[in-house]
Amino acid sequence: AAELSTAIQRALEASEPRAGGRATLGLVPTMGALHSGHASLVSTARAQNDVLVVSIFVNELQFNDQTDFNRYPRTLDADVELLARAGADIVFAPEATEVYPDGRPLIKINSGDLGLKFEGAARPGHFDGMLAVVAKLLHYVMPPAALGVPTAYRAYFGQKDAQQLVLIKRMVADLNYPVEICSVPIIRSAEGLALSSRNQFLTAEQAQAALVIHRALSLVRERADRHEPLYLEDVAGLFAMEPLVELDYFELVDPRTLQELAFNCQDTPFTGQGLLLVAAKVGEVRLIDNMTLGY
Ligand code: PAJ
Repeated sequence: AAELSTAIQRALEASEPRAGGRATLGLVPTMGALHSGHASLVSTARAQNDVLVVSIFVNELQFNDQTDFNRYPRTLDADVELLARAGADIVFAPEATEVYPDGRPLIKINSGDLGLKFEGAARPGHFDGMLAVVAKLLHYVMPPAALGVPTAYRAYFGQKDAQQLVLIKRMVADLNYPVEICSVPIIRSAEGLALSSRNQFLTAEQAQAALVIHRALSLVRERADRHEPLYLEDVAGLFAMEPLVELDYFELVDPRTLQELAFNCQDTPFTGQGLLLVAAKVGEVRLIDNMTLGY
């Protein structure tokens, strides 16, 4: 961590700030096993900042399932190579003993009611553990206050993990972190499957079946775009045709609070802005995806 601070300080001092004399520092937190979804975060952050730090840390605290943690893909050498090509200035890949020297931290971050819904309901403790490490990563990389150059600080997260993003924005607001949280759109395969490090565990047949997730989201989105009523039954019908895919939830929520919105509203078309959230299991792999309505 000391080395990291020195490297950040040097890089900031050496940078030639573009935005009116203010240097900008970007952070992209990841758990490695990098794919084009991560690369999109990295290239967005690279384009917007003078100094770019990418962190790689498989955070045991956010895994509610030990098997999932043990088999999580770890490809550090390939990741570092990809990040060097993508123009990251600094890769921070700490050991667990450095991040959690006393094992589990005594002081916990509680993700509140929102942390118990949707993904939180399926993965107890996941969001508390996720916020615990994001809170620390934001601190590790935070530009030193004593620095000669005034520095703006930004951290980048994918819209793919919509609930994670909302919780991080809330934590940063509630705990007064001096960082701007930036979101980056979902990157999908050509067929529509949202990229995820866990997709490599899908067989070809399962990956094909999983495309129903994007079909269902697109169906509802098209209806909303045409100002037609939205029916959950149509979505259920699509999923019923794919026995390999076990739907967990498909919800329409407020994009800012993730409060549920009524789906079937007496045949009235949906107006306003909404976010469709979906989670499904395909074999042992849990997949999540989402799409906005009314934007
Ligand atoms: P990880 O799953 O490695 O994802 C790192 C970042 O990449 C997250 O912000 C995630 O939303 C984004 N991302 C993943 N797949 C994406 C896709 N297909 N399109 C766009 N963005 C995508 O999310 C985590 O790690 C961890 O919870 C972390 C925030 C690093 C804390 O441990």
